[in-house]
Amino acid sequence: MQATVNGVRIAFAEQGSGTPLVFVHGFPLCRATWSKQVAAFKAQHRVITPDLRGLGESEATPGPVTMQRYAEDVHALLQHLGVGPVVLAGHSMGGYVALAFAKAFPQMLKGLVLVATRAGADTPEAAAGRRATAAQVQAQGSSVVVDAMAPKMLDPANTDRQMREAVRGFMAPSKPEGVISALLGMAERPDARSWLPHIHVPTLVITGAEDAVFPASESEAMAHAIPGARLAILPHAGHLVAYEQADAFNRALAQWLHEI
Ligand code: MLT
Repeated sequence: MQATVNGVRIAFAEQGSGTPLVFVHGFPLCRATWSKQVAAFKAQHRVITPDLRGLGESEATPGPVTMQRYAEDVHALLQHLGVGPVVLAGHSMGGYVALAFAKAFPQMLKGLVLVATRAGADTPEAAAGRRATAAQVQAQGSSVVVDAMAPKMLDPANTDRQMREAVRGFMAPSKPEGVISALLGMAERPDARSWLPHIHVPTLVITGAEDAVFPASESEAMAHAIPGARLAILPHAGHLVAYEQADAFNRALAQWLHEI
């Protein structure tokens, strides 16, 4: 499905009925990363999975796209669908977006799920690295980022070739313009750590023990700072924890949803 919101064509899927559950993907990924959550939760929830602006099948716009802008797109899509408040789950960059959403639209949240993400801003060196990567993508295309990111998505011990190919498939549709916008937007994102104590909805912080992108200590720190947050660190799971260890992830999410 597609909807034009904030002047941009956003692709999304919507399935099932019940408490709305919105899943926001990471970088440079797309909504297909949540296929195993859609399958598991659509029987009891209205599950909405957007492709962020410029990624997956959504339209790209030039220039940096801030986390706030992505959050506004998600909010506008929910308004368009007449949905809310929602349980919002965000993976990695999608987690940055979920935190921006929690700050801007707290009344639209029923619960928050922060998946393999972090609250801090980029260091100046990391931000400079993102801008250099954006220039490389401009010159050579998205494969620069796909080749760098794909090997970091799963537990290094995971030898499942089909799963590794699927991960590259999740990155394939993202347009260079959208990848550049996301890199520049992430480089300028604010430090969200001071917002965490002000999150007053039930929160689940969940990550993979073998995440090669962010150490579990990032999730521990967020869970510690958000009042009443629950922490789950899943074994044998890398950065793309919800896909790689979908059964364990879905069990933890279902249990938490049942309790909130
Ligand atoms: C992601 O998976 O969304 C990215 O690794 C996030 C980032 O690069 O900071």
